[in-house]
Parts: sequence; structure tokens; C-alpha cells
Amino acid sequence: MKIIHSVIELREFLARQARITFVPTMGNLHQGHLALMRQARQHGACVVASVFVNPLQFGPNEDFERYPRTLQADCELMQGLVDVVFAPSVSEMYPLPQSVFIEPPAIANELCGAARPGHFRGMATVVLKLLNIVQPHVALFGKKDYQQLHIIRQMVAQLNLAVQIVGGETVRAADGLALSSRNQYLDEVQRRIAPQLRQVLLNLRDDLLQGEQNFSQLSAHAIQQLSAQGWQVEYVSLRKQADLSVMNALVNDGVIVAAAKLGSTRLLDNIEVCQVQ
Ligand code: PAF
Repeated sequence: MKIIHSVIELREFLARQARITFVPTMGNLHQGHLALMRQARQHGACVVASVFVNPLQFGPNEDFERYPRTLQADCELMQGLVDVVFAPSVSEMYPLPQSVFIEPPAIANELCGAARPGHFRGMATVVLKLLNIVQPHVALFGKKDYQQLHIIRQMVAQLNLAVQIVGGETVRAADGLALSSRNQYLDEVQRRIAPQLRQVLLNLRDDLLQGEQNFSQLSAHAIQQLSAQGWQVEYVSLRKQADLSVMNALVNDGVIVAAAKLGSTRLLDNIEVCQVQ
């Protein structure tokens, strides 16, 4: 496994590869990332993973500084799973202050974007830069960040990028908590409470599948339940899978998306729910 820090060196190496599959990450890898890398192997000969904590996608009061940077441990985990690790410095990715940005679609101002202004602009900008640097045939992103995946698909389609975007299923701990690098911020008590978010989504899905038609009412009750357990809920919303527009009943294939905080740790989860035929 090669570890490359410079864009020029990476390009020289990749120019000799017939087919490239790419898994972008911010490092501090967990089994969710590793599952994406295994999935990547099925798509192409040369698997590239990037490890880069992108300052552009963090707001001024967010966790950019304390985001765990664990490159050495990450590389040990990636041994045998990927062929190349691209781990650029901030100055390698942004040799000049970035003044050209991707303007993401309007959906980027809703859901996570409402609480994190500019996040998806910074995310889409770095993803486009990484796709241009690596020029993969296939790139994989986890479905846990459902809105992110949607915005990347829109960017790739509308800017005619020659890459196939593949979503990977969310990997969960035994108690159902979606794996995330931010889970390690949780203290012991919070970690015990954290799987409630998933449980609430499962209950909402069951209610919809049993024919409940009023999601606003269901979600208001779910938010009350979570708040009573100490969560600060940002949103629990039923969206159409195709464009993430709001639904109040299962009139199309949907996804229930949620974000909520335990203390200062923000957790995301979602569950797809298909229309009953
Ligand atoms: O999902 C992430 O880890 C990041 O948002 C990504 C896609 C690597 C861009 O920095």
C-alpha cells in the first residue's frame, strides 16, 4: 500500500492505472469506512482512499480543531484493503486561499445545512477537487450522510462528471448506533442513550408502514420522546428519496432523516422506507 501526500505524485502513479475506484474520507476510520473500501474492491483494480480533514466544510464554532487525526492507525486498518492512501496537507489541497466554490443545490440549506451554513458548499468543493485529482471511474460514499450523498449525486450529474457514484449501507454497532467518528466524543451515559435515535426511526418507519398518514404528528411525538431523554433534536423529517423534498405520508419511496445532539455531540441517522405497493 502506497501512502502519497502530494497531488503531483498521486497523479503520476494513477496515470499508470487502468481503472480506479475511490473512497474519500476524513480519516479516524471505523468499520463503516472499511466496509466501503471492501465494496470498492469489487468495482475496480486500483483502490484509492483519501484521508483529509477538510477545513472548508467546518463552521467557525465546529470541531475542525479537535476532529481526531489518526493517520498512522488509519493506514494500519487500510493495509490490504486499498492500494493507495492519499493524505494531503491543508496547504497541498489549498495552496492558495480557495476563492472558487461549488454552489450546491437549494436542498443544501435544509436539514443539516440549516444548522451548518456553508457545510455542503465546502464539502462539495473538496469532493470535486478530490474527484478531479483522482479521476476515478467509481467513487463510494456512505448512506449515513444521506443528504451529502444526494448533493454529490446532483453535482456529478449536473456537472457531467465521468464518475459513477455508489452509496454504501450504514454500518452499526451491535446496539444499532450508526458508526461515526464523532461517536467517540460521547461519554459513557451518552453512549448508552445514543441508540435511541435509531429506535425512534424504526418506530416511525413501522407507523408509516402501518398506514399512518400524518408524519408531522408522529415526528412531533418522537421529538418529545427524545427531548425527554436529554436529546436536543435538530430535525426528524420524512423526505422523498429521489429529491429529498418533504413528505407527510408515504406517497413515494421515502427516507426518514434525523439529526440530534447529546451534549455537544451531533449525531445523524436515517432509514429508508419504501412505499407499500
Ligand atoms: O463524509 C466525509 O467524510 C466527508 O464529508 C468527505 C466526503 C470525505 C469530504 O470531506
